Amino acid sequence: MSNPEIQPTIRDISRFAGQTVTLHGWLAKSRSSGSLHFLSVRDGTGFMQATVIKNEVSPEVFEKAGSLTQETSVTVQGLVREDKRAPGGYELTVKDLEIVGRSESYPITPKEHGIDFLMEHRHLWLRSPRQLAILRIRHEIIKAIRDYFDSNGYMLIDAPILTPSACEGTTTLFETQYFEDKAYLTQSGQLYMEAAALAFGKVYCFGPTFRAEKSKTRRHLTEFWMVEPEIAFCDLDDSLKVQEELITFIVQRILEHRRADLAVLERKLDRLEKVAPPFARISYDEALEILRKHGGNPEWGNDFGGTDETVLADQFDKPLFVHRFPMKCKAFYMKSDRERPEVALCADLLAPEGYGEIIGGGQREDDLVLLEKRMDEHKMDKEPYQWYLDLRRYGSVPHGGFGLGIERVVSWICGLEHVREAIPFARTIYRIYP
Ligand code: 4AD
Ligand code: MG
Repeated sequence: MSNPEIQPTIRDISRFAGQTVTLHGWLAKSRSSGSLHFLSVRDGTGFMQATVIKNEVSPEVFEKAGSLTQETSVTVQGLVREDKRAPGGYELTVKDLEIVGRSESYPITPKEHGIDFLMEHRHLWLRSPRQLAILRIRHEIIKAIRDYFDSNGYMLIDAPILTPSACEGTTTLFETQYFEDKAYLTQSGQLYMEAAALAFGKVYCFGPTFRAEKSKTRRHLTEFWMVEPEIAFCDLDDSLKVQEELITFIVQRILEHRRADLAVLERKLDRLEKVAPPFARISYDEALEILRKHGGNPEWGNDFGGTDETVLADQFDKPLFVHRFPMKCKAFYMKSDRERPEVALCADLLAPEGYGEIIGGGQREDDLVLLEKRMDEHKMDKEPYQWYLDLRRYGSVPHGGFGLGIERVVSWICGLEHVREAIPFARTIYRIYP
């Protein structure tokens, strides 16, 4: 193939109108009508129609183009032409075409496939337009989060994955052998971020976290990614302000940069467009009232289930904070409300449209004696937490933060039915392949 060496990507093909270019990609689909082959070529940045006209190419190229099967990789050379009818507004009039890698009997055809089949073929399913749109939005959400923290004075601090002890209770720990000892995959970087916040003031970590969740719901993964900021000299209200600012920043960024991807997902935008501070704040007790009014019979002291969260969120048109949960249903590190010690200075942020809790956070117990008492009540061995208790021994300050679950936020913004599509390779109770 002659080599004009103009190798644009489909994303910025409009800048090459009138020029002959070379595209590398895969055949998404094709159709033929006598003297024409219409090829839909995907290169990772987009899809583009490449038209092969019988009279304008050699007989070999025309025949090759007609024989292409789904997902064959190709190098195509052609003239970029503006064409209002073509998807994307531009098409390529093919001059030459080479097959790079063949693809026989590609398993994911344009017909409908069941979810188990698709998950089993996740390594190939990633190539379909819907999955490309979701993962591009995920990328942009993560970038927005990093931009938000980096431009607001936070230090990125990486938390360890292998840990000697639990952060979020012992029932969901993944245990692993660590030489002569046991270790656990991290459930949360929070305890380490508390140490880092007392060193740097404002910090955040972003990484994978692990929970042996035995529940099979549309919101739970066993491996999920979490962003956890932690701030020294911060109370519950300060933390909520950061949360609503961050969530608004993310949604605005996606509406600005990823509209085309939201359109592929047929996402309705009206609810997303409403996201702006302030978000409503209701107490756990007020939430119970709402649940009772809607026919529920919740008991004071229990955490909410997914259905409760949906009922609560449905009463509001923006994300909703529920604060001051009973201490007894929350983790050991939570600070109690000094005016009402049976409730914690914590909050969950519930997304609209039934997506449930996207953020959990609050203020941490900063008093050594009270924290040790809480650990005794939770029947915890204090030995592996001595380093954590040191943070209360040496210059303790009021501090707090939160954890935002990336896949929950991706699901909500993309309007997905299940978090398994919000991560490239989902791990759930029944799946660790591919
Ligand atoms: O509410 P969680 O358990 O809070 C913590 O882990 C705190 N240590 C965070 C902190 O204050 N630094 O989890 C935080 C968020 C949830 O709101 C949810 O979005 C997500 O993590 N999450 C999950 N996402 C997917 N699958 C799971 N199994 C999840 N568990 C929690
Ligand atoms: Mg939570």
